[in-house]
Amino acid sequence: MCGIIGIKGNNATEKAFFGLKILEYRGYDSWGVAYPSNNGFSVTKKVGHISNSEPFSSGSNIAIGHTRWATHGNVSEKNAHPHLSMDGKIALVHNGIVENFAEIKKSLIEKGFIFKSDTDSEVIVNLIQEKMKSENSFEEAVRKSLLEIEGSFAIVAVHLGDDKLVCARNGSPLVLGFGDSYFVASDATAFIGETKKVYFLNDNEMVVISLEPKVFDISSGKEISFETKELTWNFEQAQKGQYPHFMLKEISEQSKTLNLAVEQPKEKLDELTSLLKSSEKIFLIGCGTSYHACIAGSYFFSNAGLHVETVLASEFQRVENFLNEKTLIVALSQSGETADLLCAIKSAKKKGAKIASIVNVMDSSLMRISDVSLLMNAGPEICVLSTKSYTSQLAILLLLAYSIAGKANEAKQLVKETASKIELLISSSESEMESLAEKLADKKNIFIIGRGEAFPAALESALKIKEVSYIHAEGFAGAELKHGTIALIEEGTPAIVLCTPETRAEVLSNAIEMKSRGALIIGVDSKEHSEFDFNIIVPNCGNADIISLAIPIQLLAYYLALKKGLDPDKPRNLAKSVTVK
Ligand code: F6R
Repeated sequence: MCGIIGIKGNNATEKAFFGLKILEYRGYDSWGVAYPSNNGFSVTKKVGHISNSEPFSSGSNIAIGHTRWATHGNVSEKNAHPHLSMDGKIALVHNGIVENFAEIKKSLIEKGFIFKSDTDSEVIVNLIQEKMKSENSFEEAVRKSLLEIEGSFAIVAVHLGDDKLVCARNGSPLVLGFGDSYFVASDATAFIGETKKVYFLNDNEMVVISLEPKVFDISSGKEISFETKELTWNFEQAQKGQYPHFMLKEISEQSKTLNLAVEQPKEKLDELTSLLKSSEKIFLIGCGTSYHACIAGSYFFSNAGLHVETVLASEFQRVENFLNEKTLIVALSQSGETADLLCAIKSAKKKGAKIASIVNVMDSSLMRISDVSLLMNAGPEICVLSTKSYTSQLAILLLLAYSIAGKANEAKQLVKETASKIELLISSSESEMESLAEKLADKKNIFIIGRGEAFPAALESALKIKEVSYIHAEGFAGAELKHGTIALIEEGTPAIVLCTPETRAEVLSNAIEMKSRGALIIGVDSKEHSEFDFNIIVPNCGNADIISLAIPIQLLAYYLALKKGLDPDKPRNLAKSVTVK
């Protein structure tokens, strides 16, 4: 949901350009860079992907940049950031949503301001210009403006003639980097090649980067002390390396990331296990793929004798009346910045509920708000689609479920065995999935069914296929088809049937029901069936079967995108880390 960057130091423009290319996964409909020059700000804005553009140098020691996922205003150069104030003296990039932008804009228009874009962000930069009349420094004008803004923001602003960057955060992520230059960005991968020494801003903090960064509380204006830390991720992890796309790289990494997922610090695992055992009510919440992992988790916990309810984070209000101090919320998120999830967590916290999280990004908002967190250790996931983070979530949920029964070591063994089987599966099924993709690329609909743990696997498979190939795909619990959707099956409709040994007999009956109506049946199982028109063989992984079921469909989705000439890393209309509600 928009990536922002600011640099103070040598070769600032080139560094901003480079960082934006890395941040592009956060939004890629348009981009822009601005730096102060002799005749005011020099601004470059373009519609499209920054990865298709050549970097340029400017000689400036200050630059800011933005890669956009449109919210207010269509995709156009005029709505791309950075935005300049009406007098041209302030440049600003913004990630977030200004909820009261209409009323601020109206009052600024009454004061004579003219707006060039349809964005909520231009309101901030003009409000700062207005405050400059009464405040005696740029940073005070920024701070006073932010006090009037309702909604979420991460901003970086520059004023001509002031050799400083002013940045602030409330609700949208922002991290400072300390290297040969100072960096500020939505995500540390934007500068990880330059420095690993970072400070993650908290909400309601503002930083003035002049000679050296100083952090202030936005409400009081008082300076606050802060401590830097060292990142554990490295530059190579955020690069495609030998792979043509991040999606294929991240699918291929799963044998490694599964092993890392179950290497949890004992004290954290014990703490969460005892919270799970002692809480009166437990909710597993997440969005998109993370929500599918939640459903699988509820099945794992149920096998361990523990009842948990799964709720879509965006629908969490429905259960708020049932929360109290004895409730535990387990929140799943790759990014730890998903707005729907953070909103649910904040209101659960107000009711006294305990918060646990399973999260990939260290020091993300979710991690910081949680009472206890388990890190996925999957490394940066750059492709917009969740792949390795999904299987890491599953591995950690299995570990927790086994841990409740005092069998954490058995779970580790199970996941490690699964990881080595997965390694073979990935290499052996690539070409098979590529040729299946060839057969399915021109289909309009694909249906996917599974029972038991293969049901959330079916939901997740459908999401993977539709978001990257734009083929309509729907996942169902096997028995549900005959309650309505079977009406859509006609001659040649592809239906993927996900089997596990426990659910095989029943789901095969559902497959035969579809086949009798003309469906082309693609079965995924550890053994062949004559009822299937196409057999995809996966290893038997026991209680971790849901992990092996995910792999061929991730690869199929990847190759479907390629067959249709689409970029699997950047599907249309999407962005990773959905920081708006
Ligand atoms: C699908 C996908 C999304 C995310 C969802 C939640 O491939 O990536 O559905 O799973 O936006 O994101 P996180 O896990 O970061 O909270």
